[in-house]
Formats: sequence, structure tokens, C-alpha cells
Amino acid sequence: MNFLSVNDIGPLDAAVKEALEIKANRFAFKHLGENKTLLMLFFNSSLRTRLSTQKAAMNLGMNVMVLDVNQGAWKLETERGVVMDGDKVEHLLEAIPVMASYCDIIGVRAFAGLKDKKEDYEERVISQFVKYSGRPVFSMEAATRHPLQSFADLITIEEFKTKPRPKIVLTWAPHPRALPQAVPNSFAEWMNATGYDFVITHPEGYELAPEFAGNARVDYDQARAFEGADFIYAKNWSAYSGPNYGRVLSTDRSWTVDSAKMALTDNAFFMHCLPVRRNMIVTDDVIESPRSIVIPEAANREISAQTVLKRMLESL
Ligand code: CP
Repeated sequence: MNFLSVNDIGPLDAAVKEALEIKANRFAFKHLGENKTLLMLFFNSSLRTRLSTQKAAMNLGMNVMVLDVNQGAWKLETERGVVMDGDKVEHLLEAIPVMASYCDIIGVRAFAGLKDKKEDYEERVISQFVKYSGRPVFSMEAATRHPLQSFADLITIEEFKTKPRPKIVLTWAPHPRALPQAVPNSFAEWMNATGYDFVITHPEGYELAPEFAGNARVDYDQARAFEGADFIYAKNWSAYSGPNYGRVLSTDRSWTVDSAKMALTDNAFFMHCLPVRRNMIVTDDVIESPRSIVIPEAANREISAQTVLKRMLESL
């Protein structure tokens, strides 16, 4: 079993039910991980993913190894055919089977480079781990998706919702640097797989890839999109379309989520995957308000990771 997208988790209601059972008794499956080793490999920085996934693995009785590729390990070349006369001294094609020989399950974080859309959307790095490791592989955020985050988001919405079909609004918000589309892509993919009323709002030019936006309603008017919302999910992303791929087109702070915008909603909960830049994405008062659920959302990262790891261990 690999876990790279919503398609790898089966029916969502069963996955959430299992996650909530695990949350209620998180040490019940400690025997599953005995003498099993998880390797977590980071090409990019992390706080939540690193700690929550390690905690999830420890709850399951696993041994855990963490490698930061760009800090202390040999720099890895990821493209085949490159003349390796630069700063990269080892190729992924040797490194993958070597690392796989030391572990039973591999987690990989490898963000989009945002320079070459084709390379990013082909998932050139994590797909090589799937192909060459001979081990179950899970995404700890790849170029186009962040499924452990989206699963934690879904668990959180299920815990906090007060109606069967809540209105969920994914809103773009400003940020000074170009960020990948992985979190919004993934969130859209997971929300489209539920029966929720799902709306995406962003300035023109920030359209997500059609395979991720799916049938979600897109509204370029943020205020109108917020009307009647039960959950506001804020995130910045860079442009996807055409020659603007990977670029910042706007840092318009009229898109920052503030209390006036939240007042348009149906007393919505505020969500963000974190880390978040305050007073760019969201104002202090909104993120500190009683309706902000960013901390329980982050805490559920342990639960989403543990549910996925449990299933992987059961399928070894
Ligand atoms: N949300 C999330 O993935 O956080 P980190 O980048 O800190 O892991």
C-alpha cells in the first residue's frame, strides 16, 4: 500500500471512523510496529509533519529514522542523465535502494520546485521512491499534494461540523513568497470526494489545476463566497496556469482573512494547515478567536498519520 492521494485511503467515512477510534485509544495497536522501522526523508523543512508522523509511528511501536537530505546527508541528484559535476554527489537511483534496505516503510517530503510545471506535476521525486524502493511509500507533502494534511483537515471538519452538509470555503490569501499548490490541490481533492458544499475563492489568475478543482464552485468574489460558510480554510498558493506557473501575481491584503470577513459567514470555524504568516493570511484576532481551530487541526496530523501507518503495517 502506498499513500499519495485521496484515492489510496478507500471510503472516507470508514477512514474517518477508524481515525476517531485510533484517537480514542491511540496505543491499542502498539504491537503492529514491533521490529518495524519507518524512514522519514525530508527534502524540505517541517515542524508538524516531522513531529506528528514520528509520534504516530511511536504510538504504533515502530522504530523511526529521520533524514534531512539537505542537512548532513550527501546532496542527491534526482534527474537521470545529468552529468554530476556539480554539488550533488549521490544519485537517487543508488540512494533509494540503499535507504530502503534499512527500513520497512518510507515517508517522503519533496516540494514542487515551481520552475517546471511538467516536472512538478509528474511528481518526479516521490514517484522514483514508489518505483525503486520496493517499500510502501507515503507522502509527507509532495509536489502536488499533501494528503496527510487533507486527511487531518477532514477529521477536524467531521469533529466540529454541526450540520450534515456544511459549507466549506477554500480561500486564497496573500503571502510574500511563491508557495506550491500542494495544500490547496489536496484539500480540494479531498473536499470534492465528500458530500460537502465546497467553494473555492481566489483572485483571477490563481485557478487550480482542473483535475484538483474538479466540480467545486469557483467565486472570484471573496465576500460573496464567505456568505453562509461553516468553515473557512485559508491558504496561499502561487499561480498554476500558463507562463505564470509558480509566480506570485498578487499580494493584495484585501484578501487577508479578518473579522469583518468572518462576520459574513455562519459563525464559521477558521482553519489553516500552518505555518501561517499572521496579518498576511489571517489577522491576529481571527486566528486567536474561539472559532479558530488551527491547533486541533494540527493535533489531528498525529491521527491521520497513525491511521495511514496502521493500514500500511497491516498490509506488510
Ligand atoms: N502543515 C504542515 O505540513 O506543517 P509542516 O510544514 O510544519 O510540516
